[in-house]
Amino acid sequence: MTVLDGARERRVRTGGVELCVAELGDPHQPTVVLVHGYPDSKEVWSEVAARLADTFHVVLYDVRGHGRSTAPSPLRGGFTLEKLTDDFLAVADAVSPDRPVHLVGHDWGSVQSWEFVTVKRTEGRIASFTSMSGPSLDHFGHWIDKRLKRPTPRRVGQLLGQGAKSWYVYLLHTPVLPELAWRGPLGKRWPGILERVEKVPGGGYPTASLPSDAAHGAWLYRDNVRPRLRRPREDAYAHVPVQLITPLGDAFLSERLYDDLELWAPRLTRRTLPAKHWVPRTRPDRLADWITEFVTATEDGRSGTGANGKHADRFGGQLVLVTGAGNGIGRATAFAFAEAGARVVAVDRDAEAAARTAELSRLIGAPAAWAETVDVSDEQAMEKLAARVAAEYGVVDVLVNNAGIGLSGSFFDTTPEDWKKVLDVNLWGVIHGCRLFGRQMAERGQGGHIVNTASAAAFQPSRALPAYGTSKAAVLMLSECLRAELADQGIGVTAICPGLVNTNITATARFAGVDAAEEKRRQQRTARLYGARNYPPEKVADAVLEAVVHNRAVVPVTPEARGAHLMSRFAPRVLRRLARVKPPL
Ligand SMILES: NC(=O)c1ccc[n+]([C@@H]2O[C@H](COP(=O)([O-])OP(=O)(O)OC[C@H]3O[C@@H](n4cnc5c(N)ncnc54)[C@H](O)[C@@H]3O)[C@@H](O)[C@H]2O)c1
Repeated sequence: MTVLDGARERRVRTGGVELCVAELGDPHQPTVVLVHGYPDSKEVWSEVAARLADTFHVVLYDVRGHGRSTAPSPLRGGFTLEKLTDDFLAVADAVSPDRPVHLVGHDWGSVQSWEFVTVKRTEGRIASFTSMSGPSLDHFGHWIDKRLKRPTPRRVGQLLGQGAKSWYVYLLHTPVLPELAWRGPLGKRWPGILERVEKVPGGGYPTASLPSDAAHGAWLYRDNVRPRLRRPREDAYAHVPVQLITPLGDAFLSERLYDDLELWAPRLTRRTLPAKHWVPRTRPDRLADWITEFVTATEDGRSGTGANGKHADRFGGQLVLVTGAGNGIGRATAFAFAEAGARVVAVDRDAEAAARTAELSRLIGAPAAWAETVDVSDEQAMEKLAARVAAEYGVVDVLVNNAGIGLSGSFFDTTPEDWKKVLDVNLWGVIHGCRLFGRQMAERGQGGHIVNTASAAAFQPSRALPAYGTSKAAVLMLSECLRAELADQGIGVTAICPGLVNTNITATARFAGVDAAEEKRRQQRTARLYGARNYPPEKVADAVLEAVVHNRAVVPVTPEARGAHLMSRFAPRVLRRLARVKPPL
């Protein structure tokens, strides 16, 4: 069974073949045509199509020689880009005769779609194009040319890098061998390879036609690759807005291939995903969101998606939840994600502060932002929050467990109540967040990222911070363990470890073992110290986004935190000495 069950099917005749075309959703809505790659059939889009069908008229077809479409005879010369363009136009005319369609292509589906959007005869028939893992052969040809004609060490490195990733293209050009391999052992092992190497859940959909699809599809390469790479067209400009989605872990294509794409596609929106090649199967939620956003923007006459802050390519449209978002580092982090076009859930126990963060996030650029009032140490409240967020906003893509409180004082001055308070918020708050939202991420099976705010105090002992330091060291170790556990599921985990950051934490931090007046005095003194240090929370927020983009494990922020981190590894004795120094309070 596939998710395409229930789709309306028709056959479209064109150029001596019969194409199997499936339709979902309301035909009065804008039409989105999904074109599959090699070696796939239209079923590769099942999960994406099901999600898009609520909003759009979704059309999928088996490319000639694949799935339930017939193959041309003879095969040689039957798969040229000209013929594939004829097929696309025949499908578009059948399913949407009066309105241009929105085109989406993956792998070879994208390679051929580049042809569709750069030739004259399709002008007015295509409204937009979303491309993933499949470059234009013309652009690729020019990319190679440029590097051969003006080789610099960097360019040669890029050529060699892509050359190594293209090993299968050379093999597919050999006669008979690919056909034998696909009809033999490779065909049998393919679902296992997809599951193990590409992390496609269950290896994908039934692949009864795989051996013949893959054998036919070899002609896509043979009919097109060499001629186009040798003589790329000079006028291969896209006449529609293009959204480029680049999976950063693609084993077959280097991201460098798209470096100069703006020259060929002037109305370009870039998106990146920490995923492997088969994104229609591994990241259907994210693709459906980005396609919806892009198609809707194009229909509304906005060719871009609005967000253009740093990392908008990565976080645009993603759902990000930040705890302790009412002030300081949490608020700055919420703003940084908002600027990158993410949808933001601002969680804080201070309702007014959370509401203000959400309101400002919308002004800054978040397409949506919500405030939630929750005490992160309250297990039941967190459970309700997780259920509400999943039901109303969706599964969180990035979770930032940032809420925390300060507590200073010697070990013997720290009462069991003090310990409980600081561990409840700083450690249990993080545990609840990871457990509840992390499980939703893992169950969705489409990756994500968890950021936990620890502190330099996690690796820098101090006689003044036994409880706080212990809570943060626990957060650091929790993050490392969870990172190991979730790595296989494409979920990254980061511990952020700031040093002294100029926030309001100094005004609320507790000082154990002193009366109220003395506590006030110490709070003011610490606030002056942090003010004089003046390290802005915005810089921590930048580090958070960078850490997610690069999937970093432990990120000390501020020079003193980086210094302490180095010393904890290479000169722990010095740190231990420093830990004994009495604080000047
Ligand atoms: N400021 C620093 O120098 C520094 C250094 C290292 C680590 N940190 C850590 O960074 C995080 C953020 O600190 P900050 O400096 O921005 O502090 P802050 O006091 O400016 O902001 C913390 C926010 O968290 C909220 N909060 C506190 N307890 C909560 C709870 N139980 N439930 C929900 N919300 C709660 C507060 O209402 C506040 O809005 C904390 O985990 C802190 O330990 C801060």
